[in-house]
Amino acid sequence: MSLPHEIPKRAAPGANSSDQWALFGVSRNRIVRLLREAGCVFADEEAGLLGGAATSVAELDLLVSRRCAGEPLEYVLGWAAFCGLRVRVSPGVFVPRRRTEFLVDRAAALAVGVEHPVVVDLCCGSGAIGRALAERLGGVELCATDIDPVAVRCARGNLGERGRVFEGDLYAPLPSALRGRVDLLTANAPYVPTASIATMPREARLHEARATLDGGDDGLDLQRRIAVEASAWLKPGAHLVMETSGRQADHTAEILARAGLAPVTEHSAGWDATVVTGTRG
Ligand SMILES: C[S@@+](CC[C@H](N)C(=O)[O-])C[C@H]1O[C@@H](n2cnc3c(N)ncnc32)[C@H](O)[C@@H]1O
Repeated sequence: MSLPHEIPKRAAPGANSSDQWALFGVSRNRIVRLLREAGCVFADEEAGLLGGAATSVAELDLLVSRRCAGEPLEYVLGWAAFCGLRVRVSPGVFVPRRRTEFLVDRAAALAVGVEHPVVVDLCCGSGAIGRALAERLGGVELCATDIDPVAVRCARGNLGERGRVFEGDLYAPLPSALRGRVDLLTANAPYVPTASIATMPREARLHEARATLDGGDDGLDLQRRIAVEASAWLKPGAHLVMETSGRQADHTAEILARAGLAPVTEHSAGWDATVVTGTRG
């Protein structure tokens, strides 16, 4: 799977150059060593990003300390790379995962040929999916919702004029005028079973809000609620596109089928991602 976007070069030109490190009077190798000792697998790359983000030695020191203390790199930098974009992320807000680019890819493919598609992204977090779809498709009417006010603020910053972000439970805050008008409904809702949260990597477990991860006993509570109401919002022939795990995919497909949507499951080995699409008949 290859996407048309490339991750852009770092924003601060020259910041990663040897001149910059000389300016800071800091040895890049020392920073790499500190990061490596703290358990950062991509220490060299991270040193470059942190060096590029800092504007002074004191700031570099602070950024490296935060990272060495285990804070996710994206919170330390203030952004995450997603679909070739820099998406701003505030502490506590779900860090968009690269695998979710597969959902964007599948959703965008379904909107080809639809003029000014109406797109709704539920459980939008930072707004990464909506932002990427807006860039990809152009001319979309975009609405997004999230229950977490911090995520809503973050998504508003990322979407700007590209879309509207509403705070509340799933569909509840959406304008009722959208009922039956939606071409594309996307959702990367929490799908981790409650008991599995304890086995997640520390960074996610300790730093991302629990509500961003916890999908209930079997991980599918939110997916069930989203599926049941989807037909009321989708146009005939329109699609609900949901991310899930490979292990849960059959259950997700069954949930969509029970809600009257024809399910198709797609897996990308490259992204290690699974997406189930349900089409309204
Ligand atoms: C796994 S994160 C995904 C965020 C974003 N879609 C992404 O892919 O980066 C799930 C998001 O669902 C939100 N959420 C959880 N329960 C919700 C609910 N009942 N209604 C709306 N949003 C909810 C969380 O606040 C979190 O931002």
